[in-house]
Amino acid sequence: MSISRREVINVFQPAQEISDPKRFAGRRTEFVRALEALLSDGAHLCVYGQRGIGKSSFARQVADVAEGKLGILKALALEDYKDEKFDFLTLRITCDDTVTDLERLLQRSLTSTDGFAPWVQEDVTKRIVQDARNLSVAPSGIGATSQHQETTETSPKKRGWVESFTEVVKDTQNVASDGVLLVIDEFDRMKDRSGLASLLKALAGVKLKVMLVGVADDLKGLIVEHQSLQRQMTEGAVLLPPMPSDEVVEILTKAEESLNRELLFDEAIKHRIADLCRGQPYLVHLFGKYSLLEAFRLQLKSVGPEQLDNALSAIATEGHEAMLEERYRKAVASSPQRESVLRAFAGIARDKIHNTEAYALCKSIDQPAVYLGHLRQAKYGGELIDRGNRYHEFKDALFKAYVNATPRRFVV
Ligand SMILES: Nc1ncnc2c1ncn2[C@@H]1O[C@H](COP(=O)(O)OP(=O)(O)O)[C@@H](O)[C@H]1O
Ligand SMILES: [Mg+2]
Repeated sequence: MSISRREVINVFQPAQEISDPKRFAGRRTEFVRALEALLSDGAHLCVYGQRGIGKSSFARQVADVAEGKLGILKALALEDYKDEKFDFLTLRITCDDTVTDLERLLQRSLTSTDGFAPWVQEDVTKRIVQDARNLSVAPSGIGATSQHQETTETSPKKRGWVESFTEVVKDTQNVASDGVLLVIDEFDRMKDRSGLASLLKALAGVKLKVMLVGVADDLKGLIVEHQSLQRQMTEGAVLLPPMPSDEVVEILTKAEESLNRELLFDEAIKHRIADLCRGQPYLVHLFGKYSLLEAFRLQLKSVGPEQLDNALSAIATEGHEAMLEERYRKAVASSPQRESVLRAFAGIARDKIHNTEAYALCKSIDQPAVYLGHLRQAKYGGELIDRGNRYHEFKDALFKAYVNATPRRFVV
C-alpha cells in the first residue's frame, strides 16, 4: 500500500471545516441559491441550520467563490456559473464571546487581521479607529437603537464606528469591483444582535454584502429584526438541512478518491454509515476516520462491518469525541436503566417521539417514566425536551444520532 498513515488520518477532518473543494460534497441546490444572492445587487446572505450541519464549510466555499476561487464550481458541476465574474474583497469574522454586539463586530472587522487590517494602510486604520473611539461617548450602542429609529438620529457612538466602517469600505473599493463581502460566522453567539436593520440602512451607500452564518431553525432565530430585513435577506437565506443519504455517500466516495481508491469502503458500509449518521456530516467524518484507520492498521483494502463496529466502540471508549461523550456520560451517569431509556428515544429517527413508542423499545425497564424525567433535568444535561401530550424531542439532533450510532456503555 503506497498511501501513508498521515494521509489516512487526514482524509477526514471532523474538527475542521472543509477547505479543499474536492472534499466538499452535496449542497448543490443550496449553493446555487447562495451564488445567485452573490450576484444579486442589494441581497445579503444568511446561512443557518443546526450545530455541526456544515454551515462554516458551506460559507467558506461561497466566500472562496466570491473571491474568484472557482474550484468548487467544477466539484459541484456548477460550471454554468464559471463565466460570471466574482470579485469581492472577502473578510471573515468569527464571533466569540468578546463580540457581544454589532459595535464590537465593526471594531473587530476594522482592526483584526481577518478583517480590514491588511487592506488599509496602517496609519489610515489607526486614525479611523481613533476617530471612532473619540466619538464613542454615548452610553447607548448600536444595539440600543430600535429598528424604527432613523439613521440620522443615531447616537454618536454608533455614528463613530459606522462612519469609520463606511470610510474603510469606501477606501477599499478599488481593491475589488464587487465591493466587500463580510462573512460573520457564529453570529448566533453574539448576545445582542439588535440594530442590524439600521446598520445596513446606514451602509446602504457602499458596496457591501454580508453573509451571516449561525445556528438557528429559521431566519427569525438568527435575525432579530427579520421583518424589516425580509426584502434584503429572503433571496439569500440558505437553510442547510441534514444531508440526504446520497450526499453522505458522496463524502465517503470523495475520501476514497483522495486516497487514490487504495483504501475503500464496502458499498454496504457506505449505506450503513449514511443510516447511522442521520445526515450529520460531522459524524460521517468521525465514523469514516476511525473505521478507515482500523482498516489501514490491518492492511485491508476496504472497510467492512467489523472495522466500522470496532471504530464505533473505540469512539465510545477511547475519547475520540470528548464533547458528545461527556454529554452521554452525564446523561447516563451510573444508571444502565437510564441508558436504556436514552437509547430507546435515540433509536427513533423522527424528531418528536411519543413516550409509549420509546417505552416499547425498552420493555425490560421498570418505570421508564422516572428515567425519562431524569433525562429532562439539567443535572443530567437536559437532553430531552418535553413537547407536551407525552411527546419528547432531543435538544440536539447531533447528540441523538451519536447516542444511537455508538454501542451501549453498560453491559446488560
Ligand atoms: N458539504 C460537506 N462535505 C463534506 N464534509 C462536510 C460538508 N459540510 C460539512 N462537512 C464536515 O462536517 C463537519 C462539520 O462542519 P462545519 O462546517 O464545521 O459545521 P457547522 O459550521 O455547521 O458547525 C466538519 O468536519 C466538516 O468537514
Ligand atoms: Mg461552524
